[in-house]
Amino acid sequence: DRDMGSDLEKVLLSQEQIEERLTELAAEIDADYAGREILLVGVLRGAVMVMADLSRKLHSRVQMDWMAISSYGSGTKSSGVVRILKDLDTDLTGRDVLIVEDIIDSGLTLSWLVGNLRSRGPASVEIATLLRKPDAAKVPVDVRYVGFDIPPEFVVGYGLDYAEQYRHLPFVGTLAPHVYGG
Ligand code: PRP
Ligand code: MN
Ligand code: MG
Repeated sequence: DRDMGSDLEKVLLSQEQIEERLTELAAEIDADYAGREILLVGVLRGAVMVMADLSRKLHSRVQMDWMAISSYGSGTKSSGVVRILKDLDTDLTGRDVLIVEDIIDSGLTLSWLVGNLRSRGPASVEIATLLRKPDAAKVPVDVRYVGFDIPPEFVVGYGLDYAEQYRHLPFVGTLAPHVYGG
C-alpha cells in the first residue's frame, strides 16, 4: 500500500532524543570554538535537518555553506571516489571549518571530503555527524562530534533517505525489510 507508516519497522531515535543530543553537541562546539567564527559546511542533501537544528542551538558566530557531492560507481555502496556537484562558495583560507553530516556509514565520503577541504588552506577542519555506523571505524577519519553510534541497520528519516523518500520524517527509524527487498 501507499501508507508510509507501514514502511517503517521501528523508531530508533525519537525527535526528543535527537533534540536533546544536539543541544549537548552544540554546547561542546560552543566551548571548543570560543571566540572563533565557525564555517559550517553542510553536505547535501542528507545533512539539511542536522544543519538546521544544530546551527540554531549554537551561540558562536557562524556562517553556513553547502556542498553537493556524489560517489562514482554503481549500486548502493560508496566507492570512495567522489565528484563535486556543487562546490562551496566560500574561500576556506584561514577558516575554522566544521563539516556537518547526517551519517557516516563506510566513512569514504567524509575521508575524501576532509582531504579535499584540508587542501584549501583552512585553519582547521572538524566533523560533526548525527549518526555513525560501525564500519566507519575502518576508515582513518577523526570525527570530533558524534551524536549517536548506531547498529548497522538501514535507517531513514531526519534527512536520511531511501530512494529519495523519508527525508522529511522528524525522527530516525529503521525501514521494514519488505521495502528494500530484504
Ligand atoms: C549519504 C549520507 C552521507 C553518506 C555516508 O549520502 O548522507 O553523506 O551517504 O556514506 P559513507 O560514509 O558510506 O560514504 P548520499 O550519498 O546517500 O546522498 P544524500 O545525502 O543526498 O542522501
Ligand atoms: Mn549525504
Ligand atoms: Mg542518500
